[in-house]
Amino acid sequence: MSKSLGTIWNLDPHTAKKHDILRRYFEAWLPIMARWNGRVVYIDGFAGPGRYSAGEDGSPVVVLKAARDHAYPIRGELVCIFVEDDFERCKHLKGVLDELSATLPAHVKWSVVHGKFDEHLTKTFKLIETQKENIAPTLVFIDPFGFSHTPFQTIRTVLKNDRCEVLVNFMYEEVNRFLSLEKHAEDYDELFGTTEWRAVLGLSEAAERRKAIHDIYLKQLKTTAKYVHSFEMLNKGNSTDYFLFFATNSLKGLEKMKEAMWKVDDTGSFQFSDHSDARGLLSLFSAHPNLAPLRDAILNRFQGKDVAIEDLRDWVIAETEFLPKHLKVPILGPMELAREVSVLNASPKRRKGTFSDGTLLRFL
Ligand SMILES: C[S@@+](CC[C@H](N)C(=O)[O-])C[C@H]1O[C@@H](n2cnc3c(N)ncnc32)[C@H](O)[C@@H]1O
Repeated sequence: MSKSLGTIWNLDPHTAKKHDILRRYFEAWLPIMARWNGRVVYIDGFAGPGRYSAGEDGSPVVVLKAARDHAYPIRGELVCIFVEDDFERCKHLKGVLDELSATLPAHVKWSVVHGKFDEHLTKTFKLIETQKENIAPTLVFIDPFGFSHTPFQTIRTVLKNDRCEVLVNFMYEEVNRFLSLEKHAEDYDELFGTTEWRAVLGLSEAAERRKAIHDIYLKQLKTTAKYVHSFEMLNKGNSTDYFLFFATNSLKGLEKMKEAMWKVDDTGSFQFSDHSDARGLLSLFSAHPNLAPLRDAILNRFQGKDVAIEDLRDWVIAETEFLPKHLKVPILGPMELAREVSVLNASPKRRKGTFSDGTLLRFL
């Protein structure tokens, strides 16, 4: 597939959305990490040629421009490493970045590596480990065409470091298409880091199979990162092309990624479809998300219990599809009026429907 595309290719709408998620997350991640660390690192493991056929930015350019245009004054350095295995694309990328370079501030460093992501990353992390150096906070973007160059072991190598995170494009359509071919069995064992995927072969119903494959990968990521969230990209035929999985050990990181994903899909379904986009159907979906599942989940978990507002907020980030902004005014306010929740430590000055830090709630 990759060769037949040539050095550069057309940008699909869902790729632009992928870039949108990446940029929004990167913009949130950079100041948080750079505040406390002299160096932060961004690795684009499958960097591509840097540009699409109508001149749109490739992922390396999206990130470098986001770093350049960031309002936050970063004192330390941002090191960006772009790995690309195809010689022509690598050369193209270097040319694009050389042009951009003059506009970049001195604290933004970049290099292009010609080679394989897996080999380069493993070598780099091993070297850091043997030198017993501290790994700088690192965001790794893994965006292959297929499924054979992203062994789970490599992802584990990244995620076992507390401040390292991955955004990985799990190529569902290709994974599913070749799943029953015996000759790929070892590739799949490597990709998933487990043989559990073999049980999926018995599932013939498409939705069931999609969920099973998604959930195995999610479960695997959760063996090595505290928090994982996914976003589904559908193609022109409205079937799943890939899942973007984000894995992190940081609750703040998870919150920021969910915010980025909600911005790209404000219905909260964590999906984007080229099919619906092309037909203008996306604007027909309500911009007001359905918050009823959040209310139900809260009651399910906390009815009859007391909980501090901060713990409830963290739980919403970690255990639901929703964000803290969905909690107080839209859910807790009406619940208080309906006497489904009460504040145990309200001061005489407290206004109903406000839930400041330190508030202790009882769900009735
Ligand atoms: C989906 S494209 C990347 C697109 C790019 N991330 C973007 O969003 O603009 C995948 C790229 O990975 C390159 N590639 C394929 N196998 C690779 C490997 N093992 N290591 C590094 N790059 C690889 C391909 O040549 C191709 O340019």
